[in-house]
Amino acid sequence: MDDLSTIRSEALSAVSTATDLAALEAARVAVLGKKGSVTGLMKTLGGLAPDQRKEFGAKVNQLKGEIEQALDARRSTLGASELASRLNSDRVDVSLPARPEGQGTLHPIGQVMDEVAAIFGEMGFTWADGPDIEDDWHNFTALNIPPDHPARQMQDTFYLPSRADGTPMVLRTHTSPVQARTMLNPDVHKMLADGGSLRIIVPGRTYRIDNDATHTPMFHQVEGLVLDRATHMGHLKGCLVDFCRAFFEIDDLPLRFRPSYFPFTEPSAEVDIGCSWKDGELRIGAGDSWLEILGSGMVHPNVIRNCGLDPAVYQGFAFGMGIDRIAMLKYGINDLRAFFDSDLRWLRHYGFSALEWPSLTQGLGR
Ligand code: PHE
Repeated sequence: MDDLSTIRSEALSAVSTATDLAALEAARVAVLGKKGSVTGLMKTLGGLAPDQRKEFGAKVNQLKGEIEQALDARRSTLGASELASRLNSDRVDVSLPARPEGQGTLHPIGQVMDEVAAIFGEMGFTWADGPDIEDDWHNFTALNIPPDHPARQMQDTFYLPSRADGTPMVLRTHTSPVQARTMLNPDVHKMLADGGSLRIIVPGRTYRIDNDATHTPMFHQVEGLVLDRATHMGHLKGCLVDFCRAFFEIDDLPLRFRPSYFPFTEPSAEVDIGCSWKDGELRIGAGDSWLEILGSGMVHPNVIRNCGLDPAVYQGFAFGMGIDRIAMLKYGINDLRAFFDSDLRWLRHYGFSALEWPSLTQGLGR
């Protein structure tokens, strides 16, 4: 009995005099821990006669409950005062970013698509798109690449199982099928008939069987298409000169239009930009070398006809370029595969602020 009341008064006084949560925990362990005083009493119960055990056990249990209650009460008092003093002394820096570690960046490919869109947007182009899984007709036939044309081999196509109706399907090898999809649109026919002018860009994914430091099986292109009654080769040239100078942010960037061949354009031209190599480093701008950056030409009459329009009435130009390639050139990235490795360190280094939208007046790149 004596034991019980001593233990009780010692325990309750340790609890009430604990001045912080750590001291309170020490008081709890001294009573209810493995070697605690009340735990010790519980252990003696086994050695008692049954009726004694019942009586003494009830008292020990009651004591245990009483002490637990005192612990709980003291714990909430101490917790509240510790919180109050912390709130009093801690200062929150409201100027810190809310999620410093989680702040993401824009991938250079998305950034370059936005830059391209900002430039062509100023020239009156709108953004169009089409499916990545394309049928053979839109990817090739409509574009004047007939079934046995060698250009089909040139493009290293990924073939997919045919549709139920037998239509052969592919992963589109270029963004050019969206030219056909747009020119086939009845709303576009009407707009053209009303004297309007079609101007679209088509940024998107493209696929070819190819894999090395400068080719990945999936890559990105941006297509451009202008069609109306009057657009000629001079417009093609002016448009692409303006685009390249704006994109690379070099006002006197030299350009070279080199005769070339594409089944869907006639005449066709590949466009090179001036550059130089110094100590193995590429510099874009005036120099003694040229870099090919895009393919272009006047839309072939057969393509216009395949889309239900009269090539004697309508004419225009088209171009296509590799987004990944112009991103590498502009931002000095030398391995294409890094674009698709999802390495956070790379993404943080080459990524762009999501809050700074590229614009011709406020700056395109960083
Ligand atoms: N589709 C061509 C390619 O992928 C590029 C191109 C587009 C050329 C439009 C001329 C006109 O290589």
